[in-house]
Amino acid sequence: MAFALGKAFLAAGYFVAFGSRKPETKNQFHEMVGDESKIYGIQAAIDAGQIIIITIPYSQVAETVRKFANSLKNKVVIDITNPFTAQPNDGSSGAQVTARIIGEKARVVAAFKTNFAETISEPKDSSDKPREVHYAGDDKDAKDIVAGLIEEIGFSPVDCGTLAQSVTLDHMVPLMIRLDESLYGTSRKSSWRIASP
Ligand SMILES: NC(=O)c1ccc[n+]([C@@H]2O[C@H](COP(=O)([O-])OP(=O)(O)OC[C@H]3O[C@@H](n4cnc5c(N)ncnc54)[C@H](OP(=O)(O)O)[C@@H]3O)[C@@H](O)[C@H]2O)c1
Repeated sequence: MAFALGKAFLAAGYFVAFGSRKPETKNQFHEMVGDESKIYGIQAAIDAGQIIIITIPYSQVAETVRKFANSLKNKVVIDITNPFTAQPNDGSSGAQVTARIIGEKARVVAAFKTNFAETISEPKDSSDKPREVHYAGDDKDAKDIVAGLIEEIGFSPVDCGTLAQSVTLDHMVPLMIRLDESLYGTSRKSSWRIASP
């Protein structure tokens, strides 16, 4: 997802700083994303931008966010991570947990959770309509920024409510994977669409 989203935002004209625990080991990096971007350690990648996208396994999010919480305050943090069976058992969404760890001045928006990585380079589906990207959050300005970003890479933003309501997005993902398997033989190229009335 980091490469897929990073490439989409590079193509839209943004500077993208990729973050890695071991940037020095990513020998294929420039082959994959071209020469115009850079790969940094995680702290340096966070410091390089105002919009941070969390693209690590959900099981590592709490610990990683705790480590960098101070640097994430005031920044727009897009949480794309999917909890699957590790969904918080108090009914919270994964993105709420991220926001709580950042604490005061957290500006977390859940987005891209319900999109397969394989579709990010193909924002239009086979019917030539832009695929939808569900997003949710509590900070209106941060949500507007994320909706704009979604549009700029060719997708259709769908406002799904508050950060608490993004728990529904978390639950849609295992269903999405099952439906893609049963209807399309694990294409990983399907996407959600709310039909017009
Ligand atoms: N794949 C999809 O279709 C898709 C769609 C929507 C959302 N998501 C969500 O997006 C997130 C990333 O998915 P992905 O498929 O791109 O994952 P991935 O390729 O398995 O992992 C992404 C990166 O996370 C870092 N990472 C791995 N283990 C880590 C650890 N213990 N601590 C900190 N960082 C670690 C690694 O980067 P370094 O080794 O460079 O540090 C790795 O390249 C997941 O939470 C997933 O649920 C995925």
